[in-house]
Amino acid sequence: MADVNLFTPGRIDGFDTRNRIMMAPMTRSRALPKGVPSDLAIEYYAQRASAGLIITEGVAPCAVGLGYARTPAIENAEQIAAWKKITGAVHAKGGHIFMQFMHVGRIAHPANRYTTESSIAPSAVQAAGQMWTDTLQMQDMPAPRALDIKEIPGVIEDYAKATKNAMAAGFDGVELHSASGYLPMQFLSSNTNQRTDGYGGSVTNRIRFVVEALEAMGKAAGSMSKVGMKISPAMPFNDIHDANPVETYTTLVKAIGSMGMAYLHVLQSAPEPSYFQMLRPLFKGPFAAGGGFNKESANKMLASGGADFIVFGKLFTSNPDLPARLEKGAPLVDFDANTFYTPGAEGYTTYKSL
Ligand SMILES: Cc1cc2nc3c(=O)[nH]c(=O)nc-3n(C[C@H](O)[C@H](O)[C@H](O)COP(=O)(O)O)c2cc1C
Repeated sequence: MADVNLFTPGRIDGFDTRNRIMMAPMTRSRALPKGVPSDLAIEYYAQRASAGLIITEGVAPCAVGLGYARTPAIENAEQIAAWKKITGAVHAKGGHIFMQFMHVGRIAHPANRYTTESSIAPSAVQAAGQMWTDTLQMQDMPAPRALDIKEIPGVIEDYAKATKNAMAAGFDGVELHSASGYLPMQFLSSNTNQRTDGYGGSVTNRIRFVVEALEAMGKAAGSMSKVGMKISPAMPFNDIHDANPVETYTTLVKAIGSMGMAYLHVLQSAPEPSYFQMLRPLFKGPFAAGGGFNKESANKMLASGGADFIVFGKLFTSNPDLPARLEKGAPLVDFDANTFYTPGAEGYTTYKSL
């Protein structure tokens, strides 16, 4: 595999990718009210179509799954129609695009929502920390309501419906966001999952929600090969903590490793232990590594066979033609965290390609 680098064509089941570069899912908070992506997003994603695969920003599969200001959803006809324009623009430029489903669980504030439903989570454990709202500025996130076991099939069904909606909107596939302390990770992690039923306690029970969500998404998409997943083992973001992440994630990846999924995206957030090395052999499919990569470290990882794809996040915000710049060794524009989540075109669609 020593000849594989970022610019080697790759394959996600069902289609070829022009390189080994994935654009990371990134919330950009430019959506219109009621979870509808704006026309600016058409240009933003089309500008980045040279990625081997684009993963969209986190998209709520249902209204209560939306928690942040100006973030999009995929549960109704108006939202589907808006997303269709985005997939059309990316495909017209020869790109591929998956939608990331981000059900935030307890990481939400009512002022950011277009539903009055209260937050749901595996257990009624409030998250420490505050969240931005456009009307009330920074706010505590209210304690969520613990899901009754009878409600869980309905939440799984929301992912299935969202999958059908995403496929109707022209996406090449869908990704389950099981990272960064959102709902699936709230089920995986011991501090947020204090259930004593079949969805909590033992690791087999804590991974159940994720496995069922993936299966439902695969069924709705017509094939597991259209379903990817992102995990971030041991990442403390959003007040999440697991007593034994090595056990949790090796058990999870063993359970899903032979399902025939599109890919597994692992975000490594601390140097040790290497979850790339630990999880790669357990997953029988395209393996995507992310978190702080540059051209050199990415090519080293690919050449060593440690991953099949490298995921780039922040660099894609300010370098829409990142693959070409990396290939040519052209200068990279520094990203600007001040405009990651601000409304409007500035810092979103204003970066130029070479
Ligand atoms: C502005 C911004 C928004 C993000 N939003 C999401 C998101 O919606 N879903 C997600 O899975 N990760 C999100 N992330 C994390 C990225 O997907 C990625 O894992 C992280 O930035 C590390 O990659 P990097 O070092 O190449 O930027 C976000 C990161 C940034 C910078």
